[in-house]
Amino acid sequence: MSKSISDKTVRNPSQSSPFSEILEKNMSRRMVMRGGIAAAFATMTSLGLAGCNSSDDDDDAVDGGNPNPTPEVPGEQPAAPVKLGFESLPTSMTDACVVPAGYIAHVFAPWGTPFNDNANPWDRNGNNTSADLLNSTGMHHDGMHYFPINGSSTEGLLAVNHEYIDQKTLHPTGATLVAGKRPIEEIRKEINAHGVAILHVRRENGRWNIVHNSRYNRRFTSATPMKLAGPVGGTDWVKTPYSPNGTMVRGTNNNCGNGYTPWGTYITAEENWAACFVNTGTQPREQLRVGVSDDVGRYLWETGAADPLEVQGEFARFNVTESGADFTQDWRNEVNGFGYLVEIDPFDENSIATKRTAMGRFAHEGCAYGKPEAGKPLAFYSGDDSRFEYIYRFVSEAVWDPKDAERTDRLAVGAKYLDKGTLYVARFDADGTGEWIALTGATVGAGGRTLADEFGSLENIIINTRGAADFVGATPMDRPEWTATHPTNGDIYLTLTNNSSRNAGKGTNPPNPRLNNVNGHIVRWHDEPGSTKFKWDIFVFGSDAGADADTNRSGLTTLNQLASPDGLGFDPRGILWIQTDNGIDGGRNNNVAKATNDQMLAVIPGALADSTGTGPAINATNQADLRRFFVGPNEAEVTGFAFTPDYTTIFLNIQHPVNWPAYDTDDATTATTGTVRARSSTVVIQRADGGPLGV
Ligand code: FEO
Ligand code: CA
Ligand code: CA
Ligand code: CA
Repeated sequence: MSKSISDKTVRNPSQSSPFSEILEKNMSRRMVMRGGIAAAFATMTSLGLAGCNSSDDDDDAVDGGNPNPTPEVPGEQPAAPVKLGFESLPTSMTDACVVPAGYIAHVFAPWGTPFNDNANPWDRNGNNTSADLLNSTGMHHDGMHYFPINGSSTEGLLAVNHEYIDQKTLHPTGATLVAGKRPIEEIRKEINAHGVAILHVRRENGRWNIVHNSRYNRRFTSATPMKLAGPVGGTDWVKTPYSPNGTMVRGTNNNCGNGYTPWGTYITAEENWAACFVNTGTQPREQLRVGVSDDVGRYLWETGAADPLEVQGEFARFNVTESGADFTQDWRNEVNGFGYLVEIDPFDENSIATKRTAMGRFAHEGCAYGKPEAGKPLAFYSGDDSRFEYIYRFVSEAVWDPKDAERTDRLAVGAKYLDKGTLYVARFDADGTGEWIALTGATVGAGGRTLADEFGSLENIIINTRGAADFVGATPMDRPEWTATHPTNGDIYLTLTNNSSRNAGKGTNPPNPRLNNVNGHIVRWHDEPGSTKFKWDIFVFGSDAGADADTNRSGLTTLNQLASPDGLGFDPRGILWIQTDNGIDGGRNNNVAKATNDQMLAVIPGALADSTGTGPAINATNQADLRRFFVGPNEAEVTGFAFTPDYTTIFLNIQHPVNWPAYDTDDATTATTGTVRARSSTVVIQRADGGPLGV
């Protein structure tokens, strides 16, 4: 996300207590947690490879049938160890992408790209309509995933988040206001530029294209009807004039990171949604805790209310101020329909996206599932990206049945695993252990009172997830972003992007040990099987190469210096890919930003030490193992990526460039000449020789 929509206000009241009394510990110690893991590997289920084939099916009407979800979890035979096969790139500050020698990169589906005949081609002058945006890619691409069709690495469905908008480039000359109101066509265009795109994509003659007019192509926007499932669905919290029984809500907003499931669905995470809503009255604690605006909504969408052409309060709903007698007369509950992980079945074009409220309500950055084991519950991890917010884990009530990976009623499978379970929040202790604290009524929190005493029912706890986490003493973190699961040992890695508010007054804590942490770091942990305990350490500290040892604790060099890690994921070979969002669009305010544009790096944690475990953190002796793979254009963030199953294509996203991509070429490495209307875009990276990427 850009600095323009991130929430810089510290909303965590528990931050009044300094942590300075807690001793800083050496964060690079080894985790000692390997016992029993080898046995667990042997029981791992083969989720994706069965039934894969490599045929190039050119039939546009390929049936979703058995999509064979991406083989994120390898089979019983561990893959042969891989080594990074490219040289680390130097830093770059140009209006072009940079890839290693022997690699090629193409601009693919920049915002406004039509995917059917209902949309006009993208207009360089910003004159496309709201209807065009409903049938085109949205703005500000972020998290993404490639769902192979019948296991194919040349044809699949690409799900892409469209996190937010840039009004200056969306409209001909930016946003307008007429007598204090936004024109409703402009609002609808903005609403339709948000959300998610499902794109049917195919590689032909080495180049990827959208399959124009495919039935799979569709958009979810900030107005698309969606279901509310789980504990909050159907309760008084979410009853509105649009959905008097509280089972539906319109739209998903500010979809940042993503996840996917073992059964072939996409998960999109609602992050900075709160400020799209305004409440000028007395805000209840759950609104104060997430940052609902108290003067105007972020884009003034609420000013379209009462326009003669408004449909069912489509604009009025963004003003959640109580003005009538109850929920039938105002939109007081509309905001409670946002802040969730949303499940989408990309293979069923008629399916309705479903908000899984059991997984908590906050500024979800993304979602990664822990290594599935047959007969055991599934775990899903999600960070809350704001300063001093928390890390959460959802554990399903149902135990994993590998046959569910093959079912075609995927949202029913989602209901089985994602609507019932227990939400936990993390407390990290100074001795390298931690505890998952259940956000359920019986948990005892402040003053010896239970969550039930303080909040009442489970749906009340979920609506104010942050408040419940405060109450039980969770550990405030330096902006938790993406999570990633090591494909074989099950360790979870999470990016903590930065936190410049952790000054001497606020103090440090063990997993966030640097004051004024402008560079961020990556924490990792391992859950103890059948336990709420975990063990943790810090994998890498972001820093510029020239910083002193207290800042550059991982010994980074000019070839891998990084700051503000954000996008994160393992590929099934065990390569960890790290993307950065260093706020360059807000000025080059740290030494890494002064040296390079945002980037993507690769490292193979398992190869760093011995064969029995994850190995040590990044340190002075293993710098060559953390390599810069990609650098983006000026001011843009590099975020979200997906691989084809054969690793010959990587899709990644460039968000909020200011003068890229160049007109009249789709070569992503061509520097812009002159000035262009900027377009966030996917970039397709391949090796010129067609080989697998990274190795
Ligand atoms: Fe949308 Fe936390 O980045
Ligand atoms: Ca970010
Ligand atoms: Ca940014
Ligand atoms: Ca992000």
